[in-house]
Amino acid sequence: MPHFLDIDTTETEALRAMIDAARAMKDRRNGRPKGAPDDEQSLAGRMVALIFEKPSTRTRVSFDVGVRQMGGETMVLSGADMQLGHGETIADTARVLSRYVDLIMIRTFEAATLQEMADHATVPVINGLTDRSHPCQIMADVMTYEEHRGPIRGKRAVWTGDGNNVCASWLHAAGQFGFDMTFSGPQQLDPGREFVDFARGKGSDIRIERDPARAVEGADIVIADTWISMHDAQSARERRHNLLRPYQVDERLMGRAAPDAVFMHCLPAHRGEEVTSAVMDGPHSVVFDEAENRLHAQKAILRWCLGT
Ligand code: CP
Ligand code: NVA
Repeated sequence: MPHFLDIDTTETEALRAMIDAARAMKDRRNGRPKGAPDDEQSLAGRMVALIFEKPSTRTRVSFDVGVRQMGGETMVLSGADMQLGHGETIADTARVLSRYVDLIMIRTFEAATLQEMADHATVPVINGLTDRSHPCQIMADVMTYEEHRGPIRGKRAVWTGDGNNVCASWLHAAGQFGFDMTFSGPQQLDPGREFVDFARGKGSDIRIERDPARAVEGADIVIADTWISMHDAQSARERRHNLLRPYQVDERLMGRAAPDAVFMHCLPAHRGEEVTSAVMDGPHSVVFDEAENRLHAQKAILRWCLGT
């Protein structure tokens, strides 16, 4: 079953084909109204369930619009409103939904929930974010970088801040797309060893540099994300802010990167915390292109899953 669960568990060639397909599909839509159908109605007659156990703006809207542009239909479901949120098992939910829909996209907490859904569904399952990873986002990010600056292979991305779920998928992408990465954050918030090992195992040069100024020196890509993720306890807020404050991306830090460096953020951003407005709205920022490319990248992922 062609699930899209993570970047490390998807074939390298398939990932590259998805990025190229996404760019071609985006080109073909150039200038058309958002609601206009694609010429190739590649999801005609298909029904897609979008399940959210956490809030979402981009994932929800981009999947919904993308499926519709391809001629398919969606149903957006809140985990809390389903029996899933009231004791029905993930496995049974997967078995039942597979009788109604052609594909399931789920945003959830534990990675084990996503895996259980995939193990028991008889239709493809897509990871729309877990506590552990966010692969759809980084597919859009790789697409965005390449659209602006050409091949990402051999470039250096610098992650600043918390070694979280988005950082994990960036490390997976470093291994799969052949770029190097530096993590710059406090030791307490280092990314999981398995993500670093995966990228190194694929030949990427992965560095840990506690000093953000040194980390960013000459970087091709500078990345930030929220200091408090949806799965983090609010009670940890003050401690995290204290740990992460030195890693804020401001114009001075961004100025140490390569002159043609891009600034990336998956959004939502907390302006004045992990990044300043001057950087978010400045000449290096491609954050709204990343958000747009969620739409195009996920359309390619959906087609790959459904073989259309
Ligand atoms: N970047 C991202 O996944 O955004 P949402 O939480 O709004 O879906
Ligand atoms: N790291 C963030 C990403 C949000 C898209 C979170 O998990 O909340």
